[in-house]
Formats: sequence, C-alpha cells, structure tokens
Amino acid sequence: MVRVGLVGCGSIGRFIADALARGQVPGMRLHAIADVTAEAASVAQAYACAFTTAALDLPGLGVDLAVEAAGGAAARALAVPLLRAGCDVMLMSVGAMADAAFAAEVAEAAAAAGRRVACVTHSLRHPWLRIGAIGGLDAVRAAAVAGIAEVLLTTRKPPRGLAGAPWFDRHPVDLDALTEPAVVFEGNAAEAIAAFPANVNVAVALSLAGVGPARTRVRIVAEPGLNRNVHEVTVRGDFGELRVEIANVPSPRNPRTAMLAGLSAIAALRRIAAPIVIG
Ligand SMILES: NC(=O)c1ccc[n+]([C@@H]2O[C@H](COP(=O)([O-])OP(=O)(O)OC[C@H]3O[C@@H](n4cnc5c(N)ncnc54)[C@H](O)[C@@H]3O)[C@@H](O)[C@H]2O)c1
Repeated sequence: MVRVGLVGCGSIGRFIADALARGQVPGMRLHAIADVTAEAASVAQAYACAFTTAALDLPGLGVDLAVEAAGGAAARALAVPLLRAGCDVMLMSVGAMADAAFAAEVAEAAAAAGRRVACVTHSLRHPWLRIGAIGGLDAVRAAAVAGIAEVLLTTRKPPRGLAGAPWFDRHPVDLDALTEPAVVFEGNAAEAIAAFPANVNVAVALSLAGVGPARTRVRIVAEPGLNRNVHEVTVRGDFGELRVEIANVPSPRNPRTAMLAGLSAIAALRRIAAPIVIG
C-alpha cells in the first residue's frame, strides 16, 4: 500500500481525500493531511489519518507519496525538500514547472533521491472531448518527437473565474461590465501562468508535453454567460494537425478550478499505482 500524504486539502485535495478514503485508488491509502485550515483538520479526523500544519512533517509521518494540491507557492517551496526526504511527489500546481530553473532543480532532486515526480493535468481522454478519445497530451508528446511548428491554447472562462488575477493589476478590465467575449490576454505559457496563476496550469502542462513554455502561445478570453471553462488546443507539426476542445464544469467549491481537475488527480494516482499503464 502506498501511503499518500496530501499537501493542501481545499477543493481538489478534499476530492482526492474522499476518493482515497472510499478505496477508489487500489493500492493507495490516505495516510496524512497537511494544511492549516480547521476544515482540513476535521477531514483528517473523519478519515482517521494523521494531520499536520507543516507539510515537511509528512516524510517523518511515513508518507510515500506527497500529493500537492495547495498552490504554486507551496509547490515551489516543498517539492524539492519532500523529494530529498524520500517522498515521491505529485504536483497539481503544474504552473510552478514553467520556471525552467525550478523544473531542473526538481528533476535533479528526484534523480538524486531515486524518486519520481508526476505533474497532473486534465486527462484530455475524456467523454467531454468533442473529438472523442484521440489526442490530448499523449498525442502532443508524440508529435514533439518529430517537431512541432505551432501550439496555441485558447482558454475561455466566465469573467468571474478570472477575477483577481495579477494580470488585471496592470491591465485593468471591468469584468462585470462585459457584454460580449473579450480577449484579456495573449502571450506565451510562461507569461500566462505568471499573469493568471490560478487559471492556466493546463497551459504549462501542454507546454511541458510539447515545445516548452516560451513557444506555447496562450490566448485567454473572458466570456459573459459561459458556464464552462473551455480550452481549445491547436497543434501543427510534421505529424499533421491536432485540434482538441474540452468544456469543463467549474468545481462547486472553487470556480477557478475545473471539476475535471479532481478527476484527473484520481486518474493520475491510479496510473501511478497500476501494474499496467495504458496510453
Ligand atoms: N493540474 C491541474 O489540472 C489543475 C487544475 C486546477 C487547479 N490546479 C491547481 O491546484 C492547486 C489547488 O487547487 P484548489 O482548487 O484545490 O485550491 P484551494 O484554494 O481550494 O485549496 C488549496 C488548499 O491548500 C492549502 N494550502 C496552501 N498552502 C499550503 C501549504 N504550504 N501547506 C499546506 N496546505 C496549504 C490551503 O489552506 C487550502 O486548503 C492550485 O494551485 C490550482 O491552481 C491544478
């Protein structure tokens, strides 16, 4: 049994805790939770697992796999020390890996400690995909072997799902006053995650699978009346062309996070634990 320690028990973390406690990931169990909220402490109590407010306690509590669902700052602060202390690490805040120096440090720490790091994003193999089960990051990864000419991600979100992003400090937009879709950002994936740290982890995951954050183009559209977070991915390369559109239902607990993010986390945990890996 792999003993899982959750770093962050907010909307995604709680989803993971519930799934592990229900036995939905064969071969893994919820062993400990690290968070600072009273709600997280009561989840730990309900599931009879260890609780700490300091994530770096997790290795000492016997955790094999630390699952970060706490935010970019936590991912940056904790990934390397957790690896060095002997834990495998799963990151939900994939945006942290857009920083090449940090990503290299993580890779080095993992290799030195003989540990592994999983960066999770929405599984693009999902029934909500309009083009069905073909494509997504697996295809982007394969396409990158031959060479990719262009990757463009267009993300459309309801204005309230973008509110509060640091980008608007320097580029103010009255999101409540929008009556039609407005392009609020265009840039590369590294710039996108800095501008919208809570919104576009998928851009960084796409870039890591493909041509890197600097060459992955991102366009963000605020669209009044939309009740989904929509990601359209277009890739052109020697292999041909790939077009994927996914329309996510926002998490009931956190409108910035897709419900599918929690499902992706469970799918990723199953993949880590499984003796046979598909795709
Ligand atoms: N990979 C993906 O596909 C994907 C999709 C959506 C969101 N995300 C990212 O996942 C992360 C979590 O999202 P969420 O919606 O669950 O957020 P949330 O705000 O609902 O929950 C975050 C929790 O982490 C806790 N926390 C913060 N810093 C901590 C620390 N240092 N140690 C322990 N706990 C800490 C907070 O108290 C909170 O309970 C965010 O960074 C988000 O951007 C990833």
